[in-house]
Amino acid sequence: MMDRTTRRKIAVLERKVFMLTALCLVLAIALGVMTVLYVTKGGDTSGGEVQNGDNTDGEQMSSAISSQLTPEQKAVMALAEDLDEWNLRLVNAKNPLPNGFTVETAKIEASYARDVGMLYDAKAVSYLNQMCAAAEKDGINLLVISSHRTNARQTVLYNNQVNKQKANHPEMSDAEVKKLAATISAYPGTSEHEVGLAVDFNSVEQSFENTAEFQWLKTHAAEYGFILRYTKEKQDITGVIYEPWHYRYVGQKHAKKINELGYCLEEYIDYLKNYTK
Ligand code: DAL
Ligand code: ZN
Repeated sequence: MMDRTTRRKIAVLERKVFMLTALCLVLAIALGVMTVLYVTKGGDTSGGEVQNGDNTDGEQMSSAISSQLTPEQKAVMALAEDLDEWNLRLVNAKNPLPNGFTVETAKIEASYARDVGMLYDAKAVSYLNQMCAAAEKDGINLLVISSHRTNARQTVLYNNQVNKQKANHPEMSDAEVKKLAATISAYPGTSEHEVGLAVDFNSVEQSFENTAEFQWLKTHAAEYGFILRYTKEKQDITGVIYEPWHYRYVGQKHAKKINELGYCLEEYIDYLKNYTK
């Protein structure tokens, strides 16, 4: 039998154990409630759960990055969204067209075309016509002397160029002659004329750069979405000689940005790619 003193001590101990247990329970509940509140407010970015039904961790991250970009950087990111669009298609010796490539074409306004039924990309032909009409109003005569070419036509032009260079450079090997010819007339499958976005104006002579037509194009072509594609300065990058007569449609916003940067199309495409990473 326990005496009274021992029973009282046991009773006090039981009360203490009960109070300690109750305290632990209250603390555990409080901790649980705080955790639920934290996760619901989106504080936990490690779970990958969808928050509020429409906001993912990726979106939170990209909006955080986006908020650190300057307006200029955001504008370039918007331009980069067109990288896979038809008007930014890069065609050159390193980027040939797929076999059997075709494009929907439409006739160029007859008064601006040297030959009957000259064709251009159907999506861009109106910009070409508008540019020629605007030039005409300014007393400038832009005459299209080459536009869309079939692969067969490009093959004829390239072979003619090879024969011409062979005659001009009897000391060269066939491989050297072919390489040289491709800097003047693109190898079949690698010409922008096959895409339907290139146009040659008035004369394929270097002296075209001394004409009022060339000066007009220099000032206004970008307003209609065109760039001078093969400049003197970028021959090493384009792999093509200076062609003051050859213009390429890329769209107004890209043409203006390309001119502002002083890039050729190859450089511009690389520049935009850096804004998609
Ligand atoms: N003259 C240009 C390079 C072409 O043939 O497309
Ligand atoms: Zn051309």
